[in-house]
Amino acid sequence: MDKTSPQLLIIFGASGDLTERKLMPALFSLYQANHLPKKFAVLGISRSDADDASFREQAVLKNKHIPETIKNHGLRKSFAELVFYFDLGDSYDVDYSALRDRIAALNKSQKTEGNFIFYLSTPPSLYETIARNLNAAGLTTENGGWTRLIVEKPFGYDLASAHQLNLNLQKYFQESQIYRIDHYLGKETVQNLLVTRFANSIFEPLWNRNYIRHVEITSAESVGVENRGGYYDSSGALRDMFQNHLLQIVSLVVMEPPIGSEPEEIRNEKVKALKSLRIMRDPEILNKNTIRGQYLAGECNGETVVGYRQEKGVDPNSKTETYAAIKFYVDNWRWADVPFYVRTAKRMPTKVTEVVIHFKTPHHQIFKNSLVQNKDNKLIIRIQPNEGILVKFGVKVPGQGFEVARANLDFYYSDLADQKIMEAYERLLLDAMQGDATLYARADEVEAAWEFVDPIVEFWQKDPHAVTFGYSAGVWGPKNADDLIEGNYTWRNPGEHLTDDPGFCVIT
Ligand code: BG6
Repeated sequence: MDKTSPQLLIIFGASGDLTERKLMPALFSLYQANHLPKKFAVLGISRSDADDASFREQAVLKNKHIPETIKNHGLRKSFAELVFYFDLGDSYDVDYSALRDRIAALNKSQKTEGNFIFYLSTPPSLYETIARNLNAAGLTTENGGWTRLIVEKPFGYDLASAHQLNLNLQKYFQESQIYRIDHYLGKETVQNLLVTRFANSIFEPLWNRNYIRHVEITSAESVGVENRGGYYDSSGALRDMFQNHLLQIVSLVVMEPPIGSEPEEIRNEKVKALKSLRIMRDPEILNKNTIRGQYLAGECNGETVVGYRQEKGVDPNSKTETYAAIKFYVDNWRWADVPFYVRTAKRMPTKVTEVVIHFKTPHHQIFKNSLVQNKDNKLIIRIQPNEGILVKFGVKVPGQGFEVARANLDFYYSDLADQKIMEAYERLLLDAMQGDATLYARADEVEAAWEFVDPIVEFWQKDPHAVTFGYSAGVWGPKNADDLIEGNYTWRNPGEHLTDDPGFCVIT
């Protein structure tokens, strides 16, 4: 059975970067793999002076993010024929009746049965305006078909703005029609966290405070802020990565087993997990448990790069963090007293995202001469790249006595050679087309994440004790970030380009 009904995908902000880099390549891949419904069309909308033909050229035929191969040449052309364009004129805040007529005409010619997805790939400040104008033109009403709204991140700037945005969108759309994208949820390996935990009987019995010493999550990037300095400088790593992608990963690690795999059952547990994070409000606690840093000029992957403050669009005196490391606790039965260490940064030695579960050392030490790091087991869930799972366990070093060494048990997704792994946007678009919201963030989920993040942002912005540490581009952040981790432990710094530089300095 074809689960994907005929439909029209309407993209606002169609001349933007996201449409070209992610949405069109994802749609083309779905088309190539025969996942799109037989009756399907895309209508791009923006304020650029273009028409169907020029938009097809730009978004599909000459899109360098859709790799040209001999095999797909004909397919590109036939896919381009499903793509249309509507020029909204000078502003998004106009009467949408002409747009409504265009949608109605396409619905008829493409036989899309009144099923519409509106994808907002515009600055978030336009979300409410677009929703209001769609509503005024009668485009939010479901007439025989269905209507869905997909919104991109960032979803709000803090708790108050996220809450207001939820209210604004819910004026025109039911919550069940709203799909908030977090592209990390579209990654196979992030979804696999659920499967690792709940489809195996060997991990779940250990997945609690009795056996886990601490949890470490790293999401490092080697790139700087690229050409997004303006946006990033008013956002920072905490808002850009931690509030959404990393807290989504945290919620999947922390959550209780859902009753079943229905979207609402999974989302209910994720919200409960986020609500159980202990919110830090006391400045002393915030100072002790959070570290922010900013990259200085240095070498990254053999290339000399400028510091953050020299990036285009960035305030030369900016204190915005490009590195954020947070230690926190989860107040519930399962996780009481287990520290979580989560960090994210730009201009690190390598691009890597992983979850490391550190198990406690055995309760009774028999092989006393082994180093402590040779005693604890680790489960490493590699989100990207080299997607896979690694279990580290102790084995006897051959020879006399009982010397213990670390051995690895590893699984790589690439070993499943016959399975094509869908890109995050492919998976998420297909899910929304099929009305499956499991991998989309719900209103209360987004707000619960902001509730945890808001006091940290405020502390960093307002408290004179909240310093920003500098770190050279290409190293694993400020050295004192290791001090965050209790005991004899440090961050696991994976990847090839490790460096033992830099120490740290405080920038004023
Ligand atoms: C985006 C952030 O949401 O995620 C970017 O805005 C970041 O700053 C990107 O680079 C990372 O995504 P991925 O999939 O490359 O890890």
